[in-house]
Amino acid sequence: MKTQTTTITVPAVEIEGISKSFGGHLAVHPLDLEIRENEFFSILGPSGCGKTTLMRMITGFERPSSGRVLLGGADVTKVPTRNRDLNMLFQSYALFPHLTVFDNVVFELRVRRVPKAEANLRAQEALELVKLAHLGDRKPDQLSGGQRQRVALARAVVSGPKVVLLDEPLGALDQQLRKEMQYELKRMQREVGITFIYVTHDQEEALTMSDRIAVMSEGVVQQVGGPEDIYNRPETRFVAGFIGSCNLLDVTVPAGSAGQETGAVLEGVGVLPGVLAEDLPREQAATLLLRPERIDARRDGDGVSGTVETLTFLGEEWHVHLAIGGRTIRVSLPSLVKERDLPGLAIGEELRIGWRPEDARIVIR
Ligand SMILES: Nc1ncnc2c1ncn2[C@@H]1O[C@H](COP(=O)(O)OP(=O)(O)O)[C@@H](O)[C@H]1O
Ligand SMILES: [Mg+2]
Repeated sequence: MKTQTTTITVPAVEIEGISKSFGGHLAVHPLDLEIRENEFFSILGPSGCGKTTLMRMITGFERPSSGRVLLGGADVTKVPTRNRDLNMLFQSYALFPHLTVFDNVVFELRVRRVPKAEANLRAQEALELVKLAHLGDRKPDQLSGGQRQRVALARAVVSGPKVVLLDEPLGALDQQLRKEMQYELKRMQREVGITFIYVTHDQEEALTMSDRIAVMSEGVVQQVGGPEDIYNRPETRFVAGFIGSCNLLDVTVPAGSAGQETGAVLEGVGVLPGVLAEDLPREQAATLLLRPERIDARRDGDGVSGTVETLTFLGEEWHVHLAIGGRTIRVSLPSLVKERDLPGLAIGEELRIGWRPEDARIVIR
């Protein structure tokens, strides 16, 4: 037998076969997830897909219908929330209105019977982390929405929990502030080195902040991976359509082909280059996933031919809709490329498009 030399690191959170049904409706299908130590892990999916329910099962607010939750390797499925080494941050930040900012944060430590001097020191550090040390004497109603959210975050991390769960915490903030807070939250998470589990329905937010993302749809985890994995190598039609913009073409896996790089048949057009994301049966009805920015468009050469239907200037790029065999394929061209390679492009022109086979993934329909 070989000697094992790898160090075993216990995941921060393990979810094993967890599911939840509400009166016969399966809100979360049995699923497995591993969330690593110090990871910024996002759960991303549309409203109603089961994100909050999954979070509530991790925290212990909700009893799973099946499965187990492990924290740091220990089964906590039957452990009450207050005895789980985690904290939560909600969209409604629920600060005590009659307490100062400082007291709101230190309160968490008083409850845990941390000696006063140490508690004061740690509360001050937590306020420094969220850049509010100078506002400790204010009351919550003397703060902006973004500042209140920072206080809530200071309170969530001050006791040094292993895991902090954040359920759409930026939902109430305006777009500009949201953007700033995304970078800030990521910075704070790195600084404190606590595992964050972050729930959002906003794909851009998830891409910006996460080390890894679990994409959920209708109670099912569709894919888990880093932002680039999820974006560049979507495994399902749902993931491709939900994250970023994607052409989803109904195709057929050709008969008599072998290997992954078989391409797929678009009816009335021919074989399009592409790679099978999984081993699909031949003649299988499938979807070809092709990002608009992966398409190369020229006036001549080989490739599929299409007619320009619309041309839209968006500053950094142009969006071009091409009519191809009765369908529309969206192409996005960096402005520089459009000016250099396609000067004077007009509606009604014929273009040839191509892409690398590995940029078009073929998944089950
Ligand atoms: N306490 C509950 N009782 C009955 N149905 C619920 C309950 N909580 C959530 N659901 C249902 O479970 C599904 C998932 O809800 P939720 O986890 O809140 O989704 P998300 O957070 O992704 O928006 C929805 O269909 C919702 O109506
Ligand atoms: Mg929710």
